Amino acid sequence: MKILVTGGAGFIGSHIVDKYVELGNDVVVIDNLSTGRIQNLNPKAKFYQMDIADEKIIEIFAREKFDIVNHQAAQIDVRISVNDPTFDAKTNIIGSLNVYESAKKTGVKKIIFASSGGAIYGEQVNFPAIETDPTEPLSPYGITKLVNEKYLNYYRLVHNIDFVALRYANVYGPRQNFMGEAGVVAIFIYKMLTNAQPIINGDGFNTRDYIYISDVVEANVIALKENCSGIFNIGTGIEHNVNYVFNKLKELTGSNCSELHGEPKAGEQRRSVISYQKIQNAFGWIPKVDFETGLAMTVEYFKKFILE
Ligand SMILES: NC(=O)c1ccc[n+]([C@@H]2O[C@H](COP(=O)([O-])OP(=O)(O)OC[C@H]3O[C@@H](n4cnc5c(N)ncnc54)[C@H](O)[C@@H]3O)[C@@H](O)[C@H]2O)c1
Repeated sequence: MKILVTGGAGFIGSHIVDKYVELGNDVVVIDNLSTGRIQNLNPKAKFYQMDIADEKIIEIFAREKFDIVNHQAAQIDVRISVNDPTFDAKTNIIGSLNVYESAKKTGVKKIIFASSGGAIYGEQVNFPAIETDPTEPLSPYGITKLVNEKYLNYYRLVHNIDFVALRYANVYGPRQNFMGEAGVVAIFIYKMLTNAQPIINGDGFNTRDYIYISDVVEANVIALKENCSGIFNIGTGIEHNVNYVFNKLKELTGSNCSELHGEPKAGEQRRSVISYQKIQNAFGWIPKVDFETGLAMTVEYFKKFILE
């Protein structure tokens, strides 16, 4: 199959590209390298450095004729979205629409979308949240994820392009960007390994559902199946608070940093944990990597990465 992965030089996108290539697909990447790295790119994938909001991407679609688009490229930082919702929307809404319109005009059959189980529900009513629960995002970032799902539903109903929206929990693992504000696991590990002081935003008792990258990749493989369609949570159903993550990583990195707390950040809910029952029932997907094992593998990766 000919597959476009937008954001294929980023953390999650590059792992998806590796897997799709390994499975024998013909993979093309569009990425503007704003947070992605050229080193993440699979050499067997064809690469176009371009912004997804650039009108010229239609030329790539027309030339390459994709069967499937896997849309991972996004402005991923919740705090940037709170501070500058217009900037966030330029990529996450206008850029996405540019991708979807190009897909529509060139006969793409299906779009797989990286949605967010962490941001779309807001303060949850059920723990863990299920896909039919109310969606009350607390950030512009979360709103854009919801809006994308609605647009994709429109393209399915009116233009016959199928879609799968995977609502990821907090994804962590090798290649995650540690320079931004998003991705607490990568940020803490990097700071601990370089003897810098990590800051826990707020009291640290806010919880998240942490899912290892290989489990997310598996879900993106299932999403390729013809009978896979619609919205699915991709999480573990287990929540951990940030203080726990901090202390576990301190142990794994051997850091002696102190536990320092800063101001809580706007746009983030108190508890987040999502159910994977729907995708388990439909396709047998379950998270295979438990949190402690995933953290240990991630620390090992960053030790090598930082020493390189
Ligand atoms: N990491 C998580 O915990 C998590 C959770 C839920 C959803 N997601 C979603 O998964 C997707 C991948 O996130 P990630 O964690 O790998 O982040 P990332 O920043 O590593 O990857 C995003 C990629 O998109 C590229 N990109 C950004 N804006 C672009 C633009 N305008 N044009 C072209 N390329 C652009 C970046 O250069 C980068 O390579 C995103 O859609 C994100 O919202 C991530």
